Amino acid sequence: MTTKSEIPKFDLNDPMPEDYRKLLVKLCCVEHGIEMISRTAILDFLSKVWKVGTYQAPSPFERVRTASYCWQEVGHSEMFYNIAYDLDPDLANEDLPVTQYAFHMDFPTWTELAAVNFLTDRVGMYQANEWVDSSYVVLAKVAPLVVKDERGHTAMGYDRLERVCESAKGREEAQRAMEKWYPAALDMFGRSESKRQHEYIRWGLKKRQNGELRRQFIGDVSPLIAKLGLDVPDENKNRRFF
Ligand SMILES: [Fe+2]
Ligand SMILES: [Fe+2]
Repeated sequence: MTTKSEIPKFDLNDPMPEDYRKLLVKLCCVEHGIEMISRTAILDFLSKVWKVGTYQAPSPFERVRTASYCWQEVGHSEMFYNIAYDLDPDLANEDLPVTQYAFHMDFPTWTELAAVNFLTDRVGMYQANEWVDSSYVVLAKVAPLVVKDERGHTAMGYDRLERVCESAKGREEAQRAMEKWYPAALDMFGRSESKRQHEYIRWGLKKRQNGELRRQFIGDVSPLIAKLGLDVPDENKNRRFF
């Protein structure tokens, strides 16, 4: 078994072992599809964010903040599309389905959008953190910026939820949104028993296992949800896989 210090680093045009290249293409051209507006599912998702987050924004400030969010996500799209294209142009251009079901769910209200940003962009932050110091130098270079942006997105969602939760009616809406989006966010980490995760870790393309990341997420968000005056949803309820 390769230890961390022995994992070699690879840049775009470096010769790579075939096993490594296969995993890298899977990671960048398929899994990172959730950051690419070139995929119809993500175009649909960001269109919904734009619509709810601008037309339902309670103030000009919030409308601009949503626009800025979308601008940053479009920036991520450009980065990840280019990374994918450089590895496998055909696969980068394929309109592959996005398997995380959270991206296919509706969020028709401002309160739900706030919960979506608080929870799902936070998952994005944890996942991008996995590529900091990646053995693929190209990914390691973009990772800190993506982590910083996603940290801002989850903080924006939380800040909006704090405003919503100032009223009893708002807290009721936020509780319903949490029950709907908490399980979807937990499922985004993938199955705890996934076989591929060990390969990613072995080659320095990820640092931690899915279940470990999910546990950290639960530990970090639970006190934040409680601070809003809401109940933390049961982590086993409405989950689709573990
Ligand atoms: Fe993003
Ligand atoms: Fe984001």
